[in-house]
Amino acid sequence: MGVFGGLSLIGFIRSAFPRVHFQPPSTFKAGFPSDYALGEVSEKYKQDYRVWIVREQEGFYAIFAKCTHLGCTPRWLAAEDKFKCPCHGSGFYKDGMNFEGPAPRPLDRFNISQGEDGQLIVDKSIVFKMNPGVDPDEQYRQSVLKV
Ligand code: FES
Repeated sequence: MGVFGGLSLIGFIRSAFPRVHFQPPSTFKAGFPSDYALGEVSEKYKQDYRVWIVREQEGFYAIFAKCTHLGCTPRWLAAEDKFKCPCHGSGFYKDGMNFEGPAPRPLDRFNISQGEDGQLIVDKSIVFKMNPGVDPDEQYRQSVLKV
């Protein structure tokens, strides 16, 4: 009787603290287009959202900072103009195209748009999953935001 009562009490107390898993929102604002220089790879949102914002002549795109080999987080090496994965050495061009190492395909992208207030909006719930061997800009033209 005492054990049953004790277990019931523990269950009652635990029910007061539900297990909630907090996730960061899938959509975030990434500032104004003028905040980015032409040719820039911004790492401002890499820590919190695992996203690089890239501004090129053709527009903006948001790259998922997750290596397509086994999922490590690559580094942006500005001096070499490429992303480099520290785990097994895969390399990616600025547009996410893989060119060295074991990664089988380019880096994926997220949807990027412009809100009514003019700010860039990245939606991580919309993923452009890249296929091997095809230029990322050609695979998903909609992944490039022309501003
Ligand atoms: S996880 Fe990036 S090269 Fe293996």
